[in-house]
Amino acid sequence: MIEHQTTPGWTAVEDFLSDVVVRPDSALKNAVTAALEAGMPPIEVAPNAGKLLKLLVQLSGARRVLEIGTLAGFSTIWMAQGLPDGGRLVTCEYLPKHAGVARANVDAAGLGARVEIRVGAALDTLGALEAEGAEPFDFVFIDADKENDAHYLDWAIRLGRPGTTVVMDNVVWEGAVLDPSLDTVNAPGIVSALRMMGEDPRLDATVIQTVGTKGWDGFALALVR
Ligand code: SAH
Ligand code: DHB
Ligand code: MG
Repeated sequence: MIEHQTTPGWTAVEDFLSDVVVRPDSALKNAVTAALEAGMPPIEVAPNAGKLLKLLVQLSGARRVLEIGTLAGFSTIWMAQGLPDGGRLVTCEYLPKHAGVARANVDAAGLGARVEIRVGAALDTLGALEAEGAEPFDFVFIDADKENDAHYLDWAIRLGRPGTTVVMDNVVWEGAVLDPSLDTVNAPGIVSALRMMGEDPRLDATVIQTVGTKGWDGFALALVR
């Protein structure tokens, strides 16, 4: 990712809000520690964003969640904590090492029975889910390789249903969406997904810009019509 432009004010306020309002439990805190100890990049969603995912899962009444990009399972745990009994979450991760750390973190959080981690390129896994006739997903969180964001958005619609909620992370990318030369790998993929959110008649969407511990970024929220 390109250089962060955080200010001490943003990060200090976010830490305060996380401590006072968000209050991640010990399983979530341990998941972050385990990821750091395993040498994984610290790119999980911030606690306030993770809590937002959990609340959106609850608000939408989702029983089946699809995640694209697991890392160490931090966002996975947040969303799985929002599922009702009998709910199910399928998460896609390319790197076996990441999937292994995530498996341990999810199991330690007591959520092992409701979370399935599929290792491989997400586009392959998504195709396999369709071929298997997987039941529609109610909620989809897209947070993997940004190059494929528009493809993942299309898959979210195909594997969803009218009324499915879609959240996409990292859609501002330090402003690179206005100057793709800042990141020629990721920015064009993000911009394609944003254009699709605005133009595709199957979607109704908005984007919220964010600042905080993860720098300047944003998340998109879309409803499948
Ligand atoms: N959602 C996580 C963070 C995910 S970071 C959280 O907030 O806690 C992005 C992850 O996507 C990384 O673990 C990376 O290995 C994985 N990834 C990258 N390309 C991928 C692909 N093509 N298919 C599946 N996973 C991929
Ligand atoms: C990166 C990926 C993410 O999903 C994120 O939230 C932050 C950074 C990255 O690849 O740098
Ligand atoms: Mg992300």
